[in-house]
Amino acid sequence: MARAERILVLTGAGISAESGLGTFRDEGGLWAQHDIRDVATPEGFARDPALVQGFYNARRLQAAGAAPNPAHVALARLQRDWPGEVTIVTQNVDALHERAGAEVIHMHGELSRALCVACEHRWDAPPEMAPQEPCPACGKPAARPDVVWFGEMPYHMDLILEHLERCDRFAAIGTSGQVHPAAGFVQEATLAGAATIELNLESSEVSRIFHERRAGPATETVPAWVETLLASA
Ligand code: APR
Repeated sequence: MARAERILVLTGAGISAESGLGTFRDEGGLWAQHDIRDVATPEGFARDPALVQGFYNARRLQAAGAAPNPAHVALARLQRDWPGEVTIVTQNVDALHERAGAEVIHMHGELSRALCVACEHRWDAPPEMAPQEPCPACGKPAARPDVVWFGEMPYHMDLILEHLERCDRFAAIGTSGQVHPAAGFVQEATLAGAATIELNLESSEVSRIFHERRAGPATETVPAWVETLLASA
C-alpha cells in the first residue's frame, strides 16, 4: 500500500469564531478594540502590566467558557481516523483543539500558561493574573501570559518546518495570512510538492497561492473537507 499521506493543518482565529471567540482583523475584531502595541508587545507589557494582564485575563475567561465547534471536532476525527500522520499547528492561544480531543502545536503559546520574565519558568496560569504576579519558582513579581507577542519568535518552529518539508497535503483554516511566519507556510508546503487548500469565510492575503479554496464558515467547510478525505482513505 502506498505510504498514507502526511497532512499538515494550520489554524487561525477563524476556526474558533463560531465558538464565540473574537478574531483579530475582522470587523470589530480584537485589533479594532485594542492597540497591538499596548497589549501584544513586550514593550507594552513593560509599560503597563495591569492593562496587558487585564486584556489576557478577559480572553482567558472567555476561552475557558467557550466550547469546541464542529470544525475542531472534525479535525480531531481526521487526526484519529486518517491512516497517515495529521499534524495540527495553531496560531490560536485557546485550548479548543485539545478539548475536541486533538493534539496540537501552539506556535503562539497558550492563554492557559504563564511565563516568568525573570527566570523563564513556565506553569499553568491562574484564571486571573495580577499585574505583579509572583513566579512560583523564583518568587519575583515577573509573570506574564505565555503567549508570543509581536517581535518575538514563535514556538516550535524547527518542528513545524520539518513537518512542512515533508507534508503531502497542507490546509490553512480560518487565518487571514497577514502574520509571518505562518502566512508563508503555504509557500513552503507548495515547494515541498504538497496539495494545498484554504478553508476560509473570505479570501485571505494568500488565497491565490492555494491549489484549492473552499469558502464558508469553518463549521461547514471543515467537516465536509474531512468527510471527503476520509472517504478517499
Ligand atoms: N469560518 C472560517 N473562517 C473565518 C470565520 C469562520 N466562521 N470567521 C472568520 N474567519 C476568517 C477570516 O476571514 C480571516 O481570514 O478567519 C480569519 C481571521 O483572521 P485574523 O483575525 O487575522 O486571525 P489570524 O489569521 O489567526 O491572526 C494571526 O495575528 O494578531 C496575531 O497572534 C495573532 O495568532 C494571531 C495572528
